[in-house]
Amino acid sequence: MRPILIDCDPGHDDAMAIMLALANTEHFDVLGITCVGGNQTLNKVSENTLKVLTVLNKEIPVAKGAAGPLIREIAPAPEAHGDTGMDGPIIEKITMDFVKQNGVEFLRDKILMEEGKVTIVALGPLTNIALLLKMYPEVKERIDCIAMMGGSATSGNSTAAAEFNFWVDPHAAHIVFHSGIPLIQAGTEVSLAASILHTEIEDFKGKGRVSDFVSDLLEFYSQFSKKLGIDRSPIFDACPVMYLLHPEIFVAKDYYVDIELQGELTAGMSVTDKRVWFDMKKPNTTVLLDVDRGKFVSYLKEAIVKLDQE
Ligand code: BDR
Ligand code: CA
Repeated sequence: MRPILIDCDPGHDDAMAIMLALANTEHFDVLGITCVGGNQTLNKVSENTLKVLTVLNKEIPVAKGAAGPLIREIAPAPEAHGDTGMDGPIIEKITMDFVKQNGVEFLRDKILMEEGKVTIVALGPLTNIALLLKMYPEVKERIDCIAMMGGSATSGNSTAAAEFNFWVDPHAAHIVFHSGIPLIQAGTEVSLAASILHTEIEDFKGKGRVSDFVSDLLEFYSQFSKKLGIDRSPIFDACPVMYLLHPEIFVAKDYYVDIELQGELTAGMSVTDKRVWFDMKKPNTTVLLDVDRGKFVSYLKEAIVKLDQE
């Protein structure tokens, strides 16, 4: 079983990723969840994390980390995730609470307490992870990899060049990509391949408490793509979790990836070195490029059914 720590900013797709991980307890030992300001303020995304765990009725320790990026200002995304950061489902009463410790220290303690190496799944801006690596570099050798959603090998979504998580905190992403820790990167291209068709949302309805929660999530989340005339919604953050579970359904390639900090048009861009001639740097990242959409959606559905049956 793989011990994992999930760092996130729920976020509809973060919620899907958390559920996918917690449905697969024979694969993952989820040691805890840390929250970071991103899709919405730290307080909102942290509360959303507790909402997810309340629906699942799973007691996983949750710690609040950084409220905003290392240098830039926080830039929430209500257009995609609403004012709460996870609009759609109504959860009357949250039945869990946060651990008192700060998220960064919580990550350090959980990593150092574990006998073997720990995997970090990072689904928001990389602020907490960068702080962790800078403040407690002794954790580096105890992390087997960081599987993240962020960046792109082709095109951004927040800007033409930069994906949201890296655009929000490029400096944090830069620290992570220079850490020497093995990295798995799910960027915009694999996320677009990992989409749920609007017509598939229906399949999640009426099967139980968790599936109703998921269909409420997806109904709200799909409005963003519907307004753009697109027939599906990318479930970005489920990609790194799905890759850890089912690498065989992905197309992936190792590249050297670096993060642009300065460019007027390109700040926050992940620059993927695809050159095949001279001056090549040793790859530092496994970049996910494509996925079998049918299998991706069916594994997601399976996970939700499983959670409803628990
Ligand atoms: C990423 O940004 C957020 O809106 C999502 O939760 C995901 O982590 C996609 O660019
Ligand atoms: Ca996210």
